[in-house]
Amino acid sequence: MAEFFVLNTGARIPSVGLGTATGKAEPGVVGAAVYAAVKAGYRHIDCAPQYRNEKEIGLTLKKLFEDGVVKREDLFITSKLWSGNHAPEDVPEGIDTTLEDLQLEYLDLFLIHTPIRSKKGAIPTPENFLPVDIPATWGAMEKLYHSGKARAIGVSNFSCKRMEDLLAIASVPPAVNQVESHPGWQQMKLRELCKSKGVHISAYSPLGKPGSPGSMGKGFLSNPIVVSVAEKLQKTPAQVALRWGLQMGHSVLPKSVNETRMKENLSVFGWSIPEDLMAKFSEIPQVKTLRAEFVVHPQGIYKTVEDFWDALLPIFCLVTSPFPWPRLHLLAPVRLLQQASSGDLPQRIDHLQGLRESIR
Ligand SMILES: NC(=O)c1ccc[n+]([C@@H]2O[C@H](COP(=O)([O-])OP(=O)(O)OC[C@H]3O[C@@H](n4cnc5c(N)ncnc54)[C@H](OP(=O)(O)O)[C@@H]3O)[C@@H](O)[C@H]2O)c1
Repeated sequence: MAEFFVLNTGARIPSVGLGTATGKAEPGVVGAAVYAAVKAGYRHIDCAPQYRNEKEIGLTLKKLFEDGVVKREDLFITSKLWSGNHAPEDVPEGIDTTLEDLQLEYLDLFLIHTPIRSKKGAIPTPENFLPVDIPATWGAMEKLYHSGKARAIGVSNFSCKRMEDLLAIASVPPAVNQVESHPGWQQMKLRELCKSKGVHISAYSPLGKPGSPGSMGKGFLSNPIVVSVAEKLQKTPAQVALRWGLQMGHSVLPKSVNETRMKENLSVFGWSIPEDLMAKFSEIPQVKTLRAEFVVHPQGIYKTVEDFWDALLPIFCLVTSPFPWPRLHLLAPVRLLQQASSGDLPQRIDHLQGLRESIR
């Protein structure tokens, strides 16, 4: 397994990148993490203005270059266009602000962060959403590609339908779709589509964002299959999850501000998960961590999370059980959904209705 994948532009994207969505981390934390990560061997940093730390990362990149740790051309820097800059005339401002904050001349990859458009400068809540016009936004992204400010362009959080719609109109096909992907949310259909069209998948939350509200404690990292594969290979569950991603053909973007875990997450080369153990991953229940409930509003553009993702999603991960045996209560619907996901749409709807009943 090479330490990079080749994009449809011919550029090489490092297989493991550092996530920088550090939430409400104290000032200095993300900067120190990026410095330590690059020193440890990371060559891809995944940024976004939405993470509100690009200025700090910019100062760190400058220091890394000044200290001679790496050269600009050795790094692969990704950033994203936020929803308030979707209007074609606002797209250049989106990348210019990011480039200024990161103190860079160009990005290696610039993505439309989400298929959500909000009023410029407004908080992206449903009442501030506007209908998306992806062809118009993509046209402006293509101009950035031709200008050289973005050496590759792509999207993030795009479903199969949105990808197909975009591919139908794009003069410059997207190089990447950055989406949630890990053993607990495998994205098989989207993976097949992207592979057939030469679009690389880059996996965010590749560890399932353990400890977040959507992941139920350690999430899939404590799944018995992941744990037993890790024990057999004498690796950690996190390493197994990341290695699974690489073997499935996508790059992974684990976030860590802890140097030991950063190094652990980079130690996924020089060994592999044998085929018989890879096959076991198909038995892992599928639970989406980032459901994006914040986009939903009865009078808004997205009335349900399914509208946003163009798909039926498991609904159990939000349920808080009134019973003292929450996991059992939640696992029954998981089984139902596993069965449902293999059926056709009417069958899946029936299953979902059964699921709703069982949760009430
Ligand atoms: N495009 C999008 O819409 C989008 C959405 C979400 C995320 N992202 C990108 O993807 C990156 C990663 O996703 P994420 O931050 O949501 O989730 P993640 O990488 O799956 O999980 C991060 C969490 O796992 C912990 N962790 C890291 N390494 C670990 C290990 N070896 N063992 C156990 N726990 C470990 C981290 O804690 P410590 O820091 O304490 O180690 C952190 O709490 C983000 O930072 C961001 O760059 C993009």
